[in-house]
Amino acid sequence: MSIAVIVGSQWGDEVKGKIVDLLSKRYDIVVRYQGGANAGHTVQVGDKQFILHLIPSGILWENVKCVIGNGVVIDPKALLDEIKFLENLGINIKGRLFISQNAHLIMPYHKLLDSISESGSSKIGTTGRGIGPCYIDKYARKGIKIVDLRDKKDLEQKIKINIEEKNILLTKLYNQAELNVDEIIKEYLDFDDAIDQYITDVPSYLNSALNEDKSILLEGAQGTMLDVDFGTYPYVTSSNPTSGGACTGSGIPPTKISMVIGIVKAYTTRVGLGPFPTELDGEEGETLRKVGGEYGATTGRPRRCGWFDAFLLSYSRMINGIERAAITKLDVLSYLDEIKVCVGYEINGKKLSSYPTSVNQMMQVKPVYETLPGWKCDISDATTYDELPGTAKDYLSFIAQQSGFEIGIISVGPRRSQTIEL
Ligand code: GDP
Ligand code: IMO
Ligand code: MG
Repeated sequence: MSIAVIVGSQWGDEVKGKIVDLLSKRYDIVVRYQGGANAGHTVQVGDKQFILHLIPSGILWENVKCVIGNGVVIDPKALLDEIKFLENLGINIKGRLFISQNAHLIMPYHKLLDSISESGSSKIGTTGRGIGPCYIDKYARKGIKIVDLRDKKDLEQKIKINIEEKNILLTKLYNQAELNVDEIIKEYLDFDDAIDQYITDVPSYLNSALNEDKSILLEGAQGTMLDVDFGTYPYVTSSNPTSGGACTGSGIPPTKISMVIGIVKAYTTRVGLGPFPTELDGEEGETLRKVGGEYGATTGRPRRCGWFDAFLLSYSRMINGIERAAITKLDVLSYLDEIKVCVGYEINGKKLSSYPTSVNQMMQVKPVYETLPGWKCDISDATTYDELPGTAKDYLSFIAQQSGFEIGIISVGPRRSQTIEL
């Protein structure tokens, strides 16, 4: 059966939510494998819009089971708010949501440390959701896991030890007030009542499903260029959104993955700081942002916008093993007379043979562009490839050929119906 990984191929917000929702009806299980409530995945059904942060985007299909893997960092309050939000809309969660016992918990001090770090000189432009500090504790082997909610005494002890250390950091290094241990313990002791029913041995659950020939869709958050190992470090998130993270973040063995689908926006966007070679400044960038509605689904921040970068995409294809791509938001480019595509980078007039690995190098690159004609007509009602104008087809062929993938899906609007499958 098909075990497919959905990865963001650029800097996040490539329309993963819509595509996962669309494909979910053909799968038994959808799994989030990394990140946390820094993600904002939009799904539109009719006129209703849902923005999911932690719960997999397959949740709107009644027969689909949803899993939050060990690689995800969970803010319990954000999780419970999301469950309530969905239940209020009549979506059944009980018996359909499974949360890994090994997923780490985001604690109030993670969010605080995130905001303190962002006010200093090493600002990244994070979402402020405590993601980095939580992964720091995970890898420092001090983290608190979902399963720890079950043993109240142990949980209390773990919180105390952590806060003792954080209070030293807060008062001595950052000149901040101490955290109230009792308040935090009380808040976290209460979470188990609501969350316990979802706690699962996820690797066993998923591997049993594999043995029963069930199909699984793994939903990446963020994007390849925000990967802590392969992205534009340090301007990245603190996890592995790339396809390799799908295995370590869920417990599905690499040998079972049958396909990697890259979600690729027809142009490029980025939120937060860091290099962005094809970024459009001034009016051109502002117009693309307005037409594309490029404002963050989690923080509402305006997204930086620019031309499609095929050099970046061929790197992303290589790292993830992308064979097929879903090209999204093609309709947004319909207003342009001409569209530029970056086909390579130069430094001091010399073409780079491989993608730069340092931010310093990235800051110096000059994109090499090819210019293609626009199509200048509304394509948002197209439901077949043949309905697209020739110039739009040429644009698709060009970016696919330059990036080295095949196109499987084209999205021409936010609704499920605004999709062309090839
Ligand atoms: P994700 O984080 O990758 O799931 O993407 P986001 O949900 O953050 O951002 C995608 C935005 O684009 C959402 O507002 C969607 O409703 C919208 N959208 C999705 N597909 C299309 C499309 O094909 N065309 C247009 N114009 N908007 C789209
Ligand atoms: P989805 O899943 C776009 C960016 C932040 C910041 C950097 C680090 O919706 O595509 P973090 O809070 O993770 O420590 O921030 O990563 N970032 C995203 N950008 N889409 C996202 O998620 C993002 N999640 C984090 O803007 O630059
Ligand atoms: Mg998003």
